Amino acid sequence: MTLDRTSSAFADCYEGSPEWVVRAPGRVNLIGEHTDYNDGFVMPMAINRAVYIAGRNTGGDQVRIHSVDFGEESSFSLSEVTELTPAGDSWLEYVKGTAWALADSGRSLAGWEGVLLGDVPVGAGLSSSAAVELAVARAFQRGADWSWDAAAMALLGQRAENRWVGVNCGIMDQMISACGKDGHALLLDCRSLEGQHVPLPNGVAVVVLDTGTRRGLVDSAYNERRAQCEAAARFFSVGALRDVDEETFADRMHALDETPRRRARHVISENARTERAAEAMRQGDAQRLGLLLNESHVSLRDDFSVSSEALDAMVECAQDHASCYGARMTGAGFGGCAVALVDVEQTALFVEETAQTYRTRTGHDPSVYVCRAMEGAEVL
Ligand code: GLA
Repeated sequence: MTLDRTSSAFADCYEGSPEWVVRAPGRVNLIGEHTDYNDGFVMPMAINRAVYIAGRNTGGDQVRIHSVDFGEESSFSLSEVTELTPAGDSWLEYVKGTAWALADSGRSLAGWEGVLLGDVPVGAGLSSSAAVELAVARAFQRGADWSWDAAAMALLGQRAENRWVGVNCGIMDQMISACGKDGHALLLDCRSLEGQHVPLPNGVAVVVLDTGTRRGLVDSAYNERRAQCEAAARFFSVGALRDVDEETFADRMHALDETPRRRARHVISENARTERAAEAMRQGDAQRLGLLLNESHVSLRDDFSVSSEALDAMVECAQDHASCYGARMTGAGFGGCAVALVDVEQTALFVEETAQTYRTRTGHDPSVYVCRAMEGAEVL
């Protein structure tokens, strides 16, 4: 995606040139899965696939927006979004929901017209929705008298998604779309929202492998996992599973029913793995990082039960390749993508051979994205 493409999309719809272009990236999570809503640790990176808005300030009360990818134009007035009036989950609702969250936080908003487009695949688990939220926040901030506070914007994006769109996500996706850094992943404490940028080891490529499968009812399965984690936290008499360490868990787990016990074991061990992964990255130890990813997959598959046949197959195909340090499912699960760490010199071979073995084994057509870690939401 280039600036030229966003500008020419703008010219096609509105004539003339845009006054501004903003960009907010999608993400892949390296490790720390289903830990964000347990106040734990995650380690996503922002990727070189993003949502762009090219726009022109019009002042007044109207926002006019054309989604190039959906081939639809729509408009709404800012006075409409002073009340919480959600209407489904179309792309426009993410735009309106973000405008609502910004206005509700007391920020002044002014109208604009623009085009929305991007190259984050929708529904693949690479957080195209968080990217839309952060791009929209940037677009409003661009013309306003208030300053950009990345963490505050991430929280408002999450609020739009929770309250307006009705998806009960954690904070990871919005935080990384807001706070990504070139060449780095973000070790994020989802309780304090303090983050540390951790460099990716030299010589390692991050490859996202889309299984080409999606499962329905992901939202209800996700909400069920959240409820099970909350029940386990109540058992340990803590606010969130983040507060249970591995030792306490080992002492008391026998009194807990099997399902919440497994869910808790995943979250508690995953938090520990995520901190260890950051250590391994700081030491440039790709081998150790890879092993932690492999362990994370086993835990998500066996204890948290959010993998799928296709994801397990993809992860095994990746892990079996000689160039692969480690691989696991990534994102909410139940289909979608895996992530693999690969010897950078062997990337092309890995991509070709892993896609082929996966195709032969499952009959599904995979998509593969070799990712670079990028900056968070910005004005270009
Ligand atoms: C989805 C949610 C995130 C996080 C992951 C699982 O991507 O949006 O907040 O909970 O699932 O780690």
